[in-house]
Amino acid sequence: MTQDELKQAVARAAIEYVPVGTVVGVGTGSTANYFIDELGKIKHKLDGAVASSEGSAQRLKKLGIEVLQLNDVTELPVYVDGADEITHHLAMIKGGGGALTREKIVAAVARKFVCIADQSKLVDVLGKFPLPIEVIPMARSYVAREIVKLGGQPALRQGFTTDNGNVILDVHNLTIMKPLELESALNQITGVVANGLFARRGADVLLLGSEKGVQTLTR
Ligand code: 5RP
Repeated sequence: MTQDELKQAVARAAIEYVPVGTVVGVGTGSTANYFIDELGKIKHKLDGAVASSEGSAQRLKKLGIEVLQLNDVTELPVYVDGADEITHHLAMIKGGGGALTREKIVAAVARKFVCIADQSKLVDVLGKFPLPIEVIPMARSYVAREIVKLGGQPALRQGFTTDNGNVILDVHNLTIMKPLELESALNQITGVVANGLFARRGADVLLLGSEKGVQTLTR
């Protein structure tokens, strides 16, 4: 199976986690896009969706799925999204698509986070994938210096502005042995909007696409 076929398989499997007659939280990225396509097939069973990016919102609307603002929603039973890396404990690096802040917000509201990923995303230790950090533009240099003190090598994502009007620093050379601690430490740096470590609020379920089929991991 190709990587795209694995992504499609987990996207299909995630539909089982979407309760009928509810609003579903929808992530961002190529795997999430396959999930959106699957949602299109059951749209008559949905009350709508909350999107973690403008891109996903557009894709949902094109399929005729109503997109609601998070502030107008009190209940979000499930949030489905991909990851750049995920451990067996279901801590993740996210934000390869630059949507990490909104992803974190929607994930915080959701009762259940279902991560959908192909097998290449499963790792023992987070950090090989550069950790994205969303930063207020005027704080970029200061935040970069603070990250160097923590042992990382930040690189500005060139020509990219987030949906919130900010920039992304991709932090290389991290071997993240203590994701909870690093997530908190990064949040303490003034000018950081959010970082791509999802350890405090990790996934509840991982649907992992492999040659053996879709495996389900929970924590
Ligand atoms: C976007 C994300 C994505 O979930 C992550 O980058 C994985 O993307 P893909 O499914 O395309 O591999 O965090 O900000």
